[in-house]
Amino acid sequence: MTKTFIPLHVYEQFKFIVGEAYIITDESLLQDYGSDETEKLFFLPQVVLRPRTAFEISKIMQVCNLEKIPVTPRGAGTGLSGGALPHLGGVLISTDRLNTILKIDEDNLQVITEPGVITEVLQNAVKEKGLFYPPDPSSKGSCFIGGNIAENSGGPKAVKYGVVRDYVLNLEVVLPTGEIIWTGSNVLKTSTGYNLTQLMVGSEGTLGIVTKIVLKLIPFPKHDLLMLVPFRSLEKASEAVSAIFKAGFTPSALELVEIDALQIVSKYFSSSPVKLTSDTEAHLIIEVDGNHLETLLSEMESIGELLLQFDCGEIYFADDAQQKNALWSMRRKVAEYVKLEGYTIEEDTVVPRASLPALIRGLKKLGARLDFKVVCYGHAGDGNLHVRINKEGVPNSHDHPEMTAILRELFQLVNELGGTISGEHGIGLIQKPYLDIVIDKTRMHLMKEIKKVFDPNNILNAGKIFD
Ligand code: LAC
Ligand code: ZN
Repeated sequence: MTKTFIPLHVYEQFKFIVGEAYIITDESLLQDYGSDETEKLFFLPQVVLRPRTAFEISKIMQVCNLEKIPVTPRGAGTGLSGGALPHLGGVLISTDRLNTILKIDEDNLQVITEPGVITEVLQNAVKEKGLFYPPDPSSKGSCFIGGNIAENSGGPKAVKYGVVRDYVLNLEVVLPTGEIIWTGSNVLKTSTGYNLTQLMVGSEGTLGIVTKIVLKLIPFPKHDLLMLVPFRSLEKASEAVSAIFKAGFTPSALELVEIDALQIVSKYFSSSPVKLTSDTEAHLIIEVDGNHLETLLSEMESIGELLLQFDCGEIYFADDAQQKNALWSMRRKVAEYVKLEGYTIEEDTVVPRASLPALIRGLKKLGARLDFKVVCYGHAGDGNLHVRINKEGVPNSHDHPEMTAILRELFQLVNELGGTISGEHGIGLIQKPYLDIVIDKTRMHLMKEIKKVFDPNNILNAGKIFD
């Protein structure tokens, strides 16, 4: 395990800054901060600090910058690329105490929040005022909004409403050198210099630690309808996806789940709303939302008619909130349960929507050639397909040579189709080896130079995204 020398006087300074109760050095307690949802990676931090304010974080960063101590910021630890893992040891800053929703501005349709608020808690708080913050990663019940900003998270609603970055108006950020800045203004438009707000979104905690977040909200749509459509062929299901948009519909969710994944998840649900038939290869979960029920009903009907051309089976309509929740809950649990069945970490491929059938064909061909099982699910409407691999005899480790060879070919395929290697999970630690496939040297150089400007001593989340 990597260890940085942290002098005793520095521990004393940390204690002074955050208070004795909020510094963790006991090894048994540090364990809780060594892993996230990314495979089986584990790195122990040397010290965990749980500050309450941006000012405290600023003081910590000043000390660490001076002493050149590695710092890893961490939200709820639900990440899927290892972004919050302290792989260099050193200091881990947990944002869990910055957990207040500061203001819901009903006149401007904005919310100002701290980063340690659970995404769903924030969504529910604004919903009480009739407002909507749409980005809904599967982990919304436990992830922090700050982590969502770091990764530019997505989720099912992104297909109609956009991803996290589409809602971030302004950020208060502590820079690696300790300065506190606001990146922009709380306005809906800005043509005022480089967009530092959007540079910060998706920067995976490498450029600064976000301490306040201003988000745009929209009115909460009054109605939604949900259906589950079985398809005899996975490829046909994927072809149906772009056809739906081409026909002029914009569903508020359009998810694809391959039958193997649904079979695995069903085992864990006592009363599954899904009837699994042997002639089904995949399902589409389709949601429409809006303010006029009649319009939505007729949209659903038209989508259903269109899908007949793609050889779909009998459509299941979720009738009430309970049925809708049951279906969504199954979808959200796919990642967790498929992992239990021996599949690798969730890859996060994304291609232009109409290339989805080609991606699926290519994946299956690759699986047949290199002898692995592959299961697909995810945000088909965005062309964002989660892919999991299971190869007998090969441990499900991202750094096993046979697995890395497979992943390289997989990502090359994605690249050939005009796509990229992560749509919403980030690069973090584990996708670094493949970044060269999609990002050329010049672009990589620019990114590294930006990192240097923000973090001249390379102390903040160093070795994430790139070395
Ligand atoms: C999902 C998350 C884990 O789509 O990305 O299930
Ligand atoms: Zn996803």
